[in-house]
Amino acid sequence: RKRIVIMISGRGSNMAALIEASDDRAFPAEIVGVVSDKADARGLQLATSKGIPTRVVARGDFASKDAHDAAIDKELAAFGAEIVCLAGYMRLLTPGFVAKWQGKMINIHPALLPSFKGLDTHQRALDAGMRIHGCTVHFVTPEMDDGPIIAQSAVPVLIGDDEKTLSARVLKAEHHLFPLALRMVCEGKASMQDGKTAFSDIEHVEQVA
Ligand code: GAR
Repeated sequence: RKRIVIMISGRGSNMAALIEASDDRAFPAEIVGVVSDKADARGLQLATSKGIPTRVVARGDFASKDAHDAAIDKELAAFGAEIVCLAGYMRLLTPGFVAKWQGKMINIHPALLPSFKGLDTHQRALDAGMRIHGCTVHFVTPEMDDGPIIAQSAVPVLIGDDEKTLSARVLKAEHHLFPLALRMVCEGKASMQDGKTAFSDIEHVEQVA
């Protein structure tokens, strides 16, 4: 099983979904640690309650972004991380750090990329009158929410939806999609090649709704 470290900044519900998936011994990944840039991230307690070691690497403790990411990288090395999952890690990573983890770091974003990069995706989708919304797991590149797509899940926007109801529907899809995408990466079925996602050995394409 591949050794996974999850990076969070907050609630940690996607982290919890990955931990739950990895509780199954047949899942090709084990979660060996959680790193947060926020000492008060709610996900930290959740990880601890699941017996997963956590580290806080707070931005305020470092003079520069480079020093901060270098400290995170040290924790990843100490955990023996092979793949890194960004699960609501809300800070842009430095190009050097991203280059080092290229093809081995994946992120979940609450929109159907390349639409709605950045924050407030659900309200912006509602404001745009979208009838379909969703989530994306992609390889991380230096630009925010911009790397090659591994998997996506679409959900309907229902008449009368508000940010709360829509985000809840998308979040449910995220919890299904992230383990699925991580499995594809761990099994080598999705890999980053020449700036694109290469798919191999996929006998069937699983449609996620
Ligand atoms: C999730 O919806 C995730 O997609 C989003 O933050 C939320 C974290 O929730 N990530 C981004 O917006 C990254 N651009 P969680 O902490 O409960 O997983």
